Amino acid sequence: MRDLFNLDNQVVIITGGNGQIGQEFSRILIEYGAKVVIFDLKINQEFLEKYDDLYYYNVDITKRKQIEDALVCVKEEVGIPTTLINNAALDFPPNSTGDVTGPFEKISEDTYDKIMEVNVKGIFLCCQIIGSEMARNEYGSIVNMCSIYGMLSPHPEIYDYKNVDGEEWNKPCLYSISKAALLNLSKYLAVYWAKKKVRVNCLTPSGVFNHQDSRFLENYNRSIPIGRMADVSELDGAIIYLVSDASTYYTGNNLIVDGGWTAW
Ligand SMILES: NC(=O)c1ccc[n+]([C@@H]2O[C@H](COP(=O)([O-])OP(=O)(O)OC[C@H]3O[C@@H](n4cnc5c(N)ncnc54)[C@H](O)[C@@H]3O)[C@@H](O)[C@H]2O)c1
Repeated sequence: MRDLFNLDNQVVIITGGNGQIGQEFSRILIEYGAKVVIFDLKINQEFLEKYDDLYYYNVDITKRKQIEDALVCVKEEVGIPTTLINNAALDFPPNSTGDVTGPFEKISEDTYDKIMEVNVKGIFLCCQIIGSEMARNEYGSIVNMCSIYGMLSPHPEIYDYKNVDGEEWNKPCLYSISKAALLNLSKYLAVYWAKKKVRVNCLTPSGVFNHQDSRFLENYNRSIPIGRMADVSELDGAIIYLVSDASTYYTGNNLIVDGGWTAW
């Protein structure tokens, strides 16, 4: 059984690898034997220096040329990529401000473009450039990071406490739309590349604990049967499964790790 989850010889590209989930995924994938390549806008030198098998490239996933150039370097310096984790995204935690969290009717087109550019076009480009490389090599796994808010509407009552002094705060619909797009992109590409032995799936977590404010936590935790947010390490099993040969017959699917959120 241990061999089933072994990631020796795997070269994993993870976008947004410097974020909360990206760092945890990098850590656990390296522990299971993979070489991990982070594509991100920013570097965390201290984190990078912790692991011999961790590599970093400064890549904006909305820029085709940057992804293409970085892929050439990865192939030369690290190896042929076997996994792509599309993890980078713009999210809007409860302390976010601006028109994106205001009333639906007032969200500007600029805001729409900015979020779709990263959360959808960025993933589209990474799949085109890195996914097609894996298809040429006839081996690979793509994991698109979705969210329960890409499957369901956010529950407005969770955020009601933020509606003070006549200001309206909404969990942005743009985040939900962008994540919903990944559910179909994953199914489409799973079919498109099935014979090329590239599997494409979504991983859908509910909220991960990151020291959110107590009012938010109180409301949010009531919405989860398990009664608390996930610890980031509770996604480890799912990512190891999706990246490893334990999931060779799993494609076009959505692995939901949500503490029961979508069960009621
Ligand atoms: N944290 C949660 O509770 C939660 C829940 C469900 C789904 N998710 C999803 O999981 C993924 C990771 O979430 P997180 O909380 O770790 O995010 P995070 O905000 O901590 O990290 C996101 C990373 O993406 C990078 N990034 C942003 N724009 C980029 C670009 N144009 N090019 C390259 N890199 C870019 C950022 O620099 C950052 O390092 C996201 O897709 C998110 O939507 C998170």
